[in-house]
Amino acid sequence: MGSNGKKPARASSAVAVANSCQSWRFREDQPIYMAVKGVVFDVTSGKGTEFYGKGAPYNALVGKDSTRGVAKMSLDPEDLSHDITGLSEEELKSLDDIFNDVYKAKYPIVGYTSERILNEDGSPNQNFKPEDQPHFSIRDEF
Ligand code: HEM
Repeated sequence: MGSNGKKPARASSAVAVANSCQSWRFREDQPIYMAVKGVVFDVTSGKGTEFYGKGAPYNALVGKDSTRGVAKMSLDPEDLSHDITGLSEEELKSLDDIFNDVYKAKYPIVGYTSERILNEDGSPNQNFKPEDQPHFSIRDEF
């Protein structure tokens, strides 16, 4: 253990973040959310729990924007981000296909990430447009 007095504080805040992520990802009574291309999907329905639930093969994609991982078919923690820098044409095409044919076709959209709705300086992105999701009827309750 180091003698630097700042280390324990940094370590305990990292643990707090890890714990809150885990409870968010693994609570079985809560819906399972993940984002692709800044669009947040509820992936609980259908076979979603078998893909994304606790102990399921794609659980690592949950609770974050996993665009890069989906594009590269990678579960490497470094790829589980919204960053598409340096992806090949083929990976970008694959990303769009999976986005449209899997996520938008199967799972209801429940929101958008800040990267999608805000500019880098935090101001609202005036060009933001919600995604069309023709297979789902939006209920007029709220
Ligand atoms: C040995 C490697 C893999 C095999 C054999 C495999 C196989 C499959 C199969 C059979 C399905 C379709 C299941 C169904 O519709 O019933 C599927 C879906 C999928 N796979 Fe994989 N996969 C592999 C690796 C990966 C990796 C590394 C990723 C990383 C992101 C990935 C991401 C996905 C996604 C996002 C879906 C769609 C799930 C959904 O419908 O919500 N796969 N995979």
